[in-house]
Amino acid sequence: MGIFHIALDGPSGAGKSTVAKAIAKKLDIAYLDTGAMYRTVGLYMYENNVEISPVAVKEALSGCEIEVCYNGGEQIMLLGGRNVNKEIREHHVSSLASRVSAIPCVREYLVALQQRIAEGRSFVLDGRDIGTCVLPGAKYKFFLTATAGERARRRCAELEQKGTPIAFEQVLADIEKRDYDDSHREISPLRKAEDAIVVDSTDMDAQQVIDYIVGLIKE
Ligand code: DC
Repeated sequence: MGIFHIALDGPSGAGKSTVAKAIAKKLDIAYLDTGAMYRTVGLYMYENNVEISPVAVKEALSGCEIEVCYNGGEQIMLLGGRNVNKEIREHHVSSLASRVSAIPCVREYLVALQQRIAEGRSFVLDGRDIGTCVLPGAKYKFFLTATAGERARRRCAELEQKGTPIAFEQVLADIEKRDYDDSHREISPLRKAEDAIVVDSTDMDAQQVIDYIVGLIKE
């Protein structure tokens, strides 16, 4: 098939990372979770007590050393050489990631890094702006979505399993706020690329979504 890219965009909690990882495995290509990169920048700002304003974040960003590496196919986020995979999944980092992702210099920095990582190699990337901005020429583009209620339900189950349960109402409110913020920011808002295929996973389980997308690609 040669080198090709798959863009998998959509709102938080739609199941993008589960699906992207499985597709990468099935097609034997690499996987990049770009949200993890925004989360790592958010964590850096948090750990360094940086106020989330365009000026302060821009100044701090030059000290933020982010690297993406892989261990047996698993993506590892390094911040200043330290593995931060666990910390970036903490609840408070989600809203920080959303806030830093609206700041132009952060997007410029991470989009360039994502393009560099994906260059010359087949990749599936999951994010918000892959099909519209990072790799507008991607061969395959999907927009994975589900109702906010269903996404909150899945997120609650995940948090419960991790032993850090949070009330459904709060998770739903957070998801709705992030949806709003991610799709109303000025630069690269969350939106479907014109040529992306919409996959609504509300009534599908992960395996059905994976089979459906892989089927479309193999076609
Ligand atoms: O997918 P996620 O929940 O881990 O993403 C965290 C935040 O990063 C989310 O609020 C939106 C932002 N993001 C983005 O703006 N662009 C991307 N390509 C990926 C994530």
